[in-house]
Amino acid sequence: MAERSTSVVTAGRFREVMRAYPTGVVGVTAATDRGPRALLVGSFFSISLRPALVGFCVGEQSTTWPDIRRAARFGIGILAADQQDLGRTLAAPGPQRLAGVPWRPSSAGVPVLPGVLAHLECVPVAEHPAGDHTIVVAEVRSVRSLRDHQPLIFCHRTFGTVADARSGDRQVRSG
Ligand SMILES: Cc1cc2nc3c(=O)[nH]c(=O)nc-3n(C[C@H](O)[C@H](O)[C@H](O)COP(=O)(O)O)c2cc1C
Repeated sequence: MAERSTSVVTAGRFREVMRAYPTGVVGVTAATDRGPRALLVGSFFSISLRPALVGFCVGEQSTTWPDIRRAARFGIGILAADQQDLGRTLAAPGPQRLAGVPWRPSSAGVPVLPGVLAHLECVPVAEHPAGDHTIVVAEVRSVRSLRDHQPLIFCHRTFGTVADARSGDRQVRSG
């Protein structure tokens, strides 16, 4: 089989290779001292069962994470395949991403996103610097399944479904 790659790690080559790797997407939410805040995260991962730990990576330029980390507790909503618009909203520029989203507060006051597959409530337990990102480790204090549906997937710079991500020649850009 012909080799299709080089070993030189340029930013463009790194992005080109990694954009073929599909991820789910979650909305990280909190009721902060500056109002309800949210950001879209594709780097979410499960770490440990006992204790229940999850993690994600936050860019050093993020203006929303400093607000969320000051909140005692934050939420993680796992987006469903029919929530592309919500995904775009939660990644849009500006702090008022939740302004037009009909979220409701959990019993602890954390914004629960509408239509998500599951809502986890977490407290941050560690942050590890990693290049231009920080790896956030959080303990899961509660977890609720809310909906039986396919997950939203991000691959080749576009939102889609698991079936879309399986199509290796899909090269659509999300803009
Ligand atoms: C599909 C997708 C996945 C993203 N994943 C992450 C992520 O894992 N970590 C991160 O810091 N930002 C991620 N972002 C960008 C954030 O959603 C947000 O746009 C960025 O943090 C800048 O906004 P802020 O300054 O309000 O934090 C992602 C955006 C998109 C569209």
